[in-house]
Amino acid sequence: MSDSVHPLPVARDVEALRVTVAGWRRSGLRVGFVPTMGALHDGHLALVAEARRQADRVVASVFVNPTQFAPHEDLGRYPRQEAQDAQLLAGAGCDLLYAPTVEAMYRPDATTTIATGGPANGLEGEFRPQMFGGVALVVCKLFNQVQPDLAVFGEKDWQQLMVVRRMVRDLDLPVRIVGLPTIRDGHGLALSSRNAYLSEAELAVARSLNGVLAEAGNRAAGGRPVAVVEKDAYGALLKAGFERIDYLAIRRADDLAPFPNGIVEGPGRILAAAWLGRTRLIDNMAI
Ligand code: PAJ
Repeated sequence: MSDSVHPLPVARDVEALRVTVAGWRRSGLRVGFVPTMGALHDGHLALVAEARRQADRVVASVFVNPTQFAPHEDLGRYPRQEAQDAQLLAGAGCDLLYAPTVEAMYRPDATTTIATGGPANGLEGEFRPQMFGGVALVVCKLFNQVQPDLAVFGEKDWQQLMVVRRMVRDLDLPVRIVGLPTIRDGHGLALSSRNAYLSEAELAVARSLNGVLAEAGNRAAGGRPVAVVEKDAYGALLKAGFERIDYLAIRRADDLAPFPNGIVEGPGRILAAAWLGRTRLIDNMAI
């Protein structure tokens, strides 16, 4: 069956979505869900494939969520390519694309918000203060709209994954969260929709990020003081050609708090956000 013969059904609002999903649920089918902002690459498609493995039907959403962007951020130029995304999703085993309009998602007089804390504090939360409130709100709404049994998220956005897990626990949302390891290119660069912004020269620098993090993670795992490893890795990123570094931090993996004794004890994560021109890259690894 070719994708062009069987185009992916698209739901534009929650009513259309529910007609399909409610039918599946009545038949006892398990529903998997993959939320995205589109401009899909193999990282997103790996999430869809995982949902396909763990559920009977898969819904993917494409929604560039305005509430998680600050006014100065790249909401306006965020890549949009729905026809291509639909084609890729169909090929990856998705059954339904949910692509609501901004107006369908957010009523003009909507006032209810979600306050995040714990793993949302610091790192991305410091440099993009609006982001996790926006992510929590849209993910909570998407869960209520789709009503999936499970939802798959990438470890690429580790802090986001921890924030979503905490929200699901704190608000008793009946969704099982599945985390999937980061998909990388042949040079170890984490796939990202924002990589499309990079020039050839910037791409070469971007490809050094994962190596710096891996080496620093190994040093920290070997018992070196966290502060020393962070400082050295920060310098290595500047030397590699990154123009500005928002953060480079070694934290406890689950709550993203600093290690109290200044050395890695138990599961850790090294996380960084750095700039090349107008493009902001993030990456992280297990320690
Ligand atoms: P987006 O950046 O489109 O990412 C959608 C999902 O794909 C996230 O779970 C993200 O972690 C995952 N992902 C991105 N790149 C990946 C890679 N290289 N390997 C594995 N997974 C990868 O994250 C968002 O959208 C939004 O914040 C969203 C959750 C949709 C809420 O608006």
